[in-house]
Amino acid sequence: MEQAEIGLIGLGVMGANLSLNIAEKGNKIAVFNRTPEVTKKFYADAGELQGQIIPCETLEQFVASIRPPRPIIIMIKAGDPVDQQMELLKPYLSNGDIMIDAGNANFRDTMRRFDNLKDSGLTFIGMGVSGGEEGARHGPSIMVGGTEESWKRVEKVLTSISAKFHGEPCVAWLGENGAGHFVKTIHNGIEYADMQMIAEIYGILRDGLGMSASEIGEVFGRWNAGRLNSYLIEISEKVLKATDPISGKPMVDVIVDAAGQKGTGKWSVIEAQNMGVAATAIEAAVAGRVLSSQRTERLAAEKLFGLPKASKPQDGMAFLADLENALLAAKIGAYAQGFAVMAAASKEFNWNLPMPIIAKIWRDGCIIRSQFLDEITSAFTKDPDVPNLIVTPAFADMVKETDGALRRIVSYATMSGLPVPALASALSYFDAYRRGRGTANLIQAQRDFFGAHGFDRLDGVDKHHGPWGSGLATLA
Ligand code: 6PG
Repeated sequence: MEQAEIGLIGLGVMGANLSLNIAEKGNKIAVFNRTPEVTKKFYADAGELQGQIIPCETLEQFVASIRPPRPIIIMIKAGDPVDQQMELLKPYLSNGDIMIDAGNANFRDTMRRFDNLKDSGLTFIGMGVSGGEEGARHGPSIMVGGTEESWKRVEKVLTSISAKFHGEPCVAWLGENGAGHFVKTIHNGIEYADMQMIAEIYGILRDGLGMSASEIGEVFGRWNAGRLNSYLIEISEKVLKATDPISGKPMVDVIVDAAGQKGTGKWSVIEAQNMGVAATAIEAAVAGRVLSSQRTERLAAEKLFGLPKASKPQDGMAFLADLENALLAAKIGAYAQGFAVMAAASKEFNWNLPMPIIAKIWRDGCIIRSQFLDEITSAFTKDPDVPNLIVTPAFADMVKETDGALRRIVSYATMSGLPVPALASALSYFDAYRRGRGTANLIQAQRDFFGAHGFDRLDGVDKHHGPWGSGLATLA
């Protein structure tokens, strides 16, 4: 029997959809699930794709069905289960075989797994896959980290299954070891910020302007035809217009306002901090989810403090235009932060992350796909080493055009008691970034006062302590 080009372990929703996608694109695939009934059902339901699928009941049979060197995708719950699965698999593998973790792994685990296999003859790919169920089935965005040799072995299959933006595949090899999973983590951090900002705008429209869910859906629908065109705005319109079949109310009005999270947003923030990069909009988005989940406390606090009355803006049309521009301006801040974190990590881990290519493969297939990412691609293609997206000519023009709107919207929301942590963080980030003379001179003076930590002087004079009069920090 013809051997499979690739294997996949874990026929949950993502694994099953990815397998069908692989089979449909003309690649033979061997599949295995630890519960054989799941494999049998998957195969039985595969219809005309059955000819491309080799269902396996044992790991031995599974491994033997794949053409060496064998690429094996592991699509199971992130964390310990991946290590356990790898251990079970190892005895059947031989030189050159590639274990590929396609889950949302912490890139530090990926680096550990990659390093542990060094000198074993086996290798490891950490592969970020974005696009949810639908993406996995019909074309995800795929971020690959591993050796270049192992990438060459999987390039053809992954290219065939990836999303395509105007014919260009949304898959790329991004560097060694943890590069792919790191980039996927930052993708998710940006995703968190994007979603939080859209939710904050929704809050202004709902609680400030008193609009209904479907009216807000209409607004998002219009925006989706403009510069905010993106998958997240598109689905926001759809969910806002959906009706709950049980109560007959708008669906969003019956959903509890407490957001879940699985960890990638938090990892983005932790790594930004580790790398010494300000990612304030992403931080605000993660904190926003945390606060949202403290619903009982929030309800009690509302009883205690009440809510400020939101004023209705006088010119509704101008206000809506401001909201659209404010979202664009804030989004630029969040993406600039995400790319800055990746630039810092690239240096730290010697990955040489290709910024224009990352933007390119996010243009389709993934959750943050958008028109906007095509513009980021052009900006980074023109200037791949720019220190911050905000200062590229195209984005600088956009910021100059829209920051006034963001300022007015954040002011309005603040005066109305409507929380806009991500929008406000993006604005403050911009204000801090573009101010040549900041206020940290006072912080330096305080640090020197209580701890003799020293400071640099603007005039370059070689004196590094203030005249504070304490024994610790005399003028030196
Ligand atoms: C994607 C998504 C996907 C998943 C996240 C959601 O790119 O396809 O990001 O990976 O939806 O895990 O994460 P939270 O549960 O943390 O919101």
